[in-house]
Amino acid sequence: MRRKIVAGNWKMHGSRAANTPLIEAIVATVTSERVGCVICPPHVYLHDAARALHGGAVALGAQDLCAEAVGAFTGEVSGAMLKDVGCSYTLVGHSERRSLFGESSALVARKFAAALGAGLIPILCVGEQLSEREAGRTEGIVAAQLEAVTQLSGVQALAGALIAYEPVWAIGTGRTATPEQAQEVHAFIRQRIAVEDAKIAAGLRILYGGSVKAGNAQDIFAMPDVDGGLIGGASLKADEFLAIVAAA
Ligand code: 13P
Repeated sequence: MRRKIVAGNWKMHGSRAANTPLIEAIVATVTSERVGCVICPPHVYLHDAARALHGGAVALGAQDLCAEAVGAFTGEVSGAMLKDVGCSYTLVGHSERRSLFGESSALVARKFAAALGAGLIPILCVGEQLSEREAGRTEGIVAAQLEAVTQLSGVQALAGALIAYEPVWAIGTGRTATPEQAQEVHAFIRQRIAVEDAKIAAGLRILYGGSVKAGNAQDIFAMPDVDGGLIGGASLKADEFLAIVAAA
């Protein structure tokens, strides 16, 4: 049985005043690691968050990292720095990074490798746009996003990673993929990896993201290839997020 993981991606939300009670509520409730729980605040709050989590059952993740390890890259943050302030995970290739900040699959693959190199667990985000789904291109898009990573780092690299399937049309829209739609793509991802390495595919955690709420989490998480969730909006409300963790 793969242990389920629920990760909260705060995106560019929060403040020191708002983060404190949110993290306190999560830490007070999530005391076992039976379900993995990760929070991903904005970079500037990671250090505070690490202190507030004080090495308990809730893990810390970043939302992005630089593909380079060190040097003259103004404004960037390296994997080693994230590790240094207490992160154990980082997202890579979130659809907002891909679409709003022009990140190519090649760059995402380099970020994935940088995360692994720094000892972080990358959560590789993949997913299709609505027009791509409507054109029947979902599998081709997701396969290409995966292949950029496996070609650079090898399929073995996925043994130390998570994948998050986030259909872009479901992110922040309130329009969730049905459990069956999620399962279909998750199963496709697992089969695709299994062609290269069946053992890694069987152990790979594939999270679903896109308008997951307390009210729909249980049905989505019940699907055989859905191993948890990557939660945006609902991760900013303690009650809602904790109900999603409980559903896992
Ligand atoms: P929402 O849960 O707000 O749809 O966001 C999903 C997401 O992008 C998480 O990374």
